[in-house]
Amino acid sequence: MTHTPQNLVILTGAGISAESGISTFRDAGGLWEGHHIEDVASPRGFARDPALVHHFYNLRRAQLACVAPNAAHLALAALERAWRAARRGQFLLITQNVDDLHERAGSQRLVHMHGELRKLRCTACDTILDWPGPATPQTPCPACARPGGTLRPDIVWFGEVPYQMETCLRALLAADIFCAIGTSGLVYPAAGFAQTALENGRACRLFEINPKPTGTDLFDDVIAEPASTGVAEFVRRLQPA
Ligand code: APR
Repeated sequence: MTHTPQNLVILTGAGISAESGISTFRDAGGLWEGHHIEDVASPRGFARDPALVHHFYNLRRAQLACVAPNAAHLALAALERAWRAARRGQFLLITQNVDDLHERAGSQRLVHMHGELRKLRCTACDTILDWPGPATPQTPCPACARPGGTLRPDIVWFGEVPYQMETCLRALLAADIFCAIGTSGLVYPAAGFAQTALENGRACRLFEINPKPTGTDLFDDVIAEPASTGVAEFVRRLQPA
């Protein structure tokens, strides 16, 4: 009896945006745009120097205007449309990226598990605000109007709990196909998603797309290519024989 693939879960990491000109985290000797990751991506780093951290994310946010989705983002959005049109099953795209290239490419069922550059969160009233421009530690929250110091980038930093984990887990437990694209697989919980899909009892087929594959033996198909060509190859391999 042949197994008809139905539910598809895709996990993306920094590598999918590399060809759009956004640096990955770990390909530059442990520095992220010249900073130690812990200085700009941890609650402790923010408490130590909020001006530096806001400035860092202001630059990243401004960079979004200078970059565009690449062929991989566009191919995933097209795959989602085709999946839905053919009623092949559930589709969920989970990204660890905080850029907005997936939504600009047209992806719809999308989880930003590590937050979004274009949002700020008020630590006093918990409001999440769309924020296209810069912010400083003095910027007051427009929702609760408390004086400055309450707004922070809406980014999940080291030691914090990622967003929408229930949605991710539910999709992974129902996945027939899982594909990890452009992620080093070093940061949990995302690093454990392939294992969860593997053990979900549905004979889930696991793909990895990475020019430098991570070398785990979890994946059935390893496409050792950049995301731009790798996603096209992945889509080809999904075609029914
Ligand atoms: N196409 C596909 N993959 C690529 C490409 C490309 N063109 N270029 C690089 N890569 C791969 C690298 O080989 C590497 O395995 O992308 C991966 C990037 O890994 P990381 O920099 O570790 O990024 P990521 O896995 O997304 O990091 C996870 O760590 O710092 C935190 O919260 C941050 O979301 C981030 C998380």
